[in-house]
Amino acid sequence: MVSWKALAAAALLLSAVAGDEVANIIYHNRDIAVSACSTYLTKTATLFGAKDKKKFCNVKAQQALGSMANCLHVLNQTGSIDSFLRSCQHTNLTRKQFDAAYQNATGKLVNVTTVEGFNKTKLFFEPIITPKKKIRLYKDSIGTRYINFNYASWYGIALVAYWFALVFASGFFNLLMFVAPGLVQSLNSGFITKFRKYVTVPATGSKHHTEHKRFLKFFYMVVPTRAESLMIFGWVVLAIIFNCVSYHHVFPNTVWALTYAEMGRKVGDRSGVMSLWLIPPLVLFAGRNNVLQWISGWKYQRFLILHRWIARATTLLFVVHAVGMTFNGRGIGKYDLRNAKEYVRWGYVGCIAACLMCFQGLLFLRKRSYEAFLMGHIVLGVLYMVGGYRHVKEDGYHYFYMTAFCLWALDRVLRIVRLSFFGIKPAEVELMGEEIMRVTVDKPAWWKPFAGSHAFITFFRPSCFWQSHPFTVLDSHDGKIVFLIKVKGGVTHGLYKFLSKQPNQRATIKVSIEGPYGVRNPSSRYDNVVCVGGGNGIVGLYYIAMDLAKRARASQRVKIYWVIRSYLNLQWFYKELQQLSNTNVDTTIYVTDSLKPLNINFMDSEDDKSSNDEKSEKDLISSLKESLPHIEFMEGRPDAEQIVLNEIGQTISPIAFTTCAHPGFVDDVRKAIVHNMDKTKHRVDLFEEIQVW
Ligand SMILES: Cc1cc2nc3c(=O)[nH]c(=O)nc-3n(C[C@H](O)[C@H](O)[C@H](O)COP(=O)(O)OP(=O)(O)OC[C@H]3O[C@@H](n4cnc5c(N)ncnc54)[C@H](O)[C@@H]3O)c2cc1C
Ligand SMILES: *[C@@H]1O[C@H](CO)[C@@H](O)[C@H](O)[C@H]1NC(C)=O
Ligand SMILES: *[C@@H]1O[C@H](CO)[C@@H](O)[C@H](O)[C@H]1NC(C)=O
Ligand SMILES: *[C@@H]1O[C@H](CO)[C@@H](O)[C@H](O)[C@H]1NC(C)=O
Ligand SMILES: *[C@@H]1O[C@H](CO)[C@@H](O)[C@H](O)[C@H]1NC(C)=O
Repeated sequence: MVSWKALAAAALLLSAVAGDEVANIIYHNRDIAVSACSTYLTKTATLFGAKDKKKFCNVKAQQALGSMANCLHVLNQTGSIDSFLRSCQHTNLTRKQFDAAYQNATGKLVNVTTVEGFNKTKLFFEPIITPKKKIRLYKDSIGTRYINFNYASWYGIALVAYWFALVFASGFFNLLMFVAPGLVQSLNSGFITKFRKYVTVPATGSKHHTEHKRFLKFFYMVVPTRAESLMIFGWVVLAIIFNCVSYHHVFPNTVWALTYAEMGRKVGDRSGVMSLWLIPPLVLFAGRNNVLQWISGWKYQRFLILHRWIARATTLLFVVHAVGMTFNGRGIGKYDLRNAKEYVRWGYVGCIAACLMCFQGLLFLRKRSYEAFLMGHIVLGVLYMVGGYRHVKEDGYHYFYMTAFCLWALDRVLRIVRLSFFGIKPAEVELMGEEIMRVTVDKPAWWKPFAGSHAFITFFRPSCFWQSHPFTVLDSHDGKIVFLIKVKGGVTHGLYKFLSKQPNQRATIKVSIEGPYGVRNPSSRYDNVVCVGGGNGIVGLYYIAMDLAKRARASQRVKIYWVIRSYLNLQWFYKELQQLSNTNVDTTIYVTDSLKPLNINFMDSEDDKSSNDEKSEKDLISSLKESLPHIEFMEGRPDAEQIVLNEIGQTISPIAFTTCAHPGFVDDVRKAIVHNMDKTKHRVDLFEEIQVW
């Protein structure tokens, strides 16, 4: 209740500032009664002059005012006389004058069909009669049309409130995980564990979540978790139900002669107005600075999944709206006339842009070229917004688009503020081995990254200065931050080519950094924290582990499993691994391809580097291991089930798994946790650090 009022108030405020005509959000029967009377009376006779601006409010046109007064009395709708008087405010009509006109008309009412030579278009000077049955039909015909708008708004509000309710409920629970971890971690009864095992923790299907699911040969999708799927499913079902129920068909109908014209209009109005309510959250959820992330503790990834589903729903509603209005237009013979109007054409623009975006945003295109997707998305997004805005402006519904635009603009402003506060700084970029680039930048003192946070980097090079890509932040605690970037196919490949031509494969590149973004995960509140990382996914986990180690709670155990392809991968994380030696963090590294040839020159060993060449592969590896005595090395592929079972089996306290690795492996860990979470009497929680979008 409160939230919709705040929303509506904000929307109204916005348009009031802009000084625009605003559409009603909620219609009332008292106003509908007035509307029914004025429609009926105008249709039946000409009671005031064409130039009379006061219309039914004119005391001098007694026949008009008297007819209206009588009609309102016949309808006997509570509040309708006050409503009429309010609509007459500009003429200073008083209740006394109204009552006098009623008295004057009573007894003198004329049935126009009995008047000889009656001409409907000629000014008529007698008050006219209102048959009860007829005016009720008018009221029902008009009323169901406007009450349908009320349903549309209430349902639209409910669809928005759905997400707000979930956001705040999650936020409350998330807060509890930080401030009352003991309480949350003790929520571990058989029923709760079952619920978590089958509902909230698993992937939607048996495994795929972070790993993209492939279907129909070349389509991919980001599969939500089961809890997310249920939330989305519930919402989509509600949206469909809301678009299908509580229509009131009135026959005979004074507004539409044909039933399909009537129902087309009602369905069209419902879907159209309902979709308007979804536009602000649609835009809000896609923003990087969406405040709901910090309230709910949900990751940006989840909001993007919701963004896509809300987008699909609005597109569906647009299409239903278009179909409904086509039936209506055909039914009243205004189809071609309307299509010639500018606002209808803009509607087509918005609707077509929405349909194209649903296709254009699909993962298989995003994967192919993220930048092309982004460009296309922005261009189509502009058409979507402008088309929608121009389509509804005439009816005074444009403030929904204005609200959305403000949310978008706010996000952009915050992004620019973040960027400009960071400034443009020289970054040391070094290519380490064949696939990782280490970026080191000085950070301003106030710029506070946190464990698991990410930031968007813009490299000021001619080939890519307009792009910004997300990378996990590592605080090196000497006033610098570090990013470890894996070479992929776009910007990162360009950098790779550039660096490989530089002496020592390093260069100084000007960068700007937008961040830090992300939400903290509550794993720090557990006595037993297990980080499962792979490749450069270790960055965020290492940060988490170091954070915990620094606090050094005696009762806390921190364990890292890190999976890498070859010993070569140790190169770019060697410094950090050495730092683990001063902590109580227990680390196991799995090397899956231990046979890969080595060319180790990164150990800052005292012994002469050139002597490395003479050493055999085996010696190199063993001296490497010796230099990291606090780390256990295993060769071969780890088994997620084994790791999880082992950890869960041993634990004597609630346990938190945090994962960031190869998507397939992350999904394996989730599956293993789901499978084994009821094998201990302690609570087992999973926090995925990895995000894919
Ligand atoms: C929260 C988060 C943290 C990340 N942390 C790291 C990290 O610490 N180290 C690391 O190496 N990588 C990280 N990544 C992945 C990294 O953002 C992409 O690898 C990088 O953007 C690829 O750039 P490219 O132009 O070379 O990509 P391409 O070769 O063009 O694309 C490779 C893949 O990256 C995706 N991608 C491209 N641009 C973006 C973008 N702007 N936003 C999201 N996805 C994109 C594409 O869809 C594609 O699937 C992280 C991603 C996210 C979402
Ligand atoms: C008008 O409606 C009220 C209730 O709203 C009812 O009590 C009253 O009898 C009605 N008057 C007439 C004339 O029908
Ligand atoms: C009563 O109505 C008649 C017209 O219907 C009008 O001529 C006359 O002036 C009205 N009387 C008063 C007191 O308004
Ligand atoms: C009604 O009056 C208008 C002028 O006001 C006139 O043009 C029209 O022909 C009249 N209709 C009839 C049926 O007399
Ligand atoms: C008005 O007059 C017509 C024709 O005489 C009649 O059919 C109709 O019922 C009358 N309407 C009212 C409300 O008396």
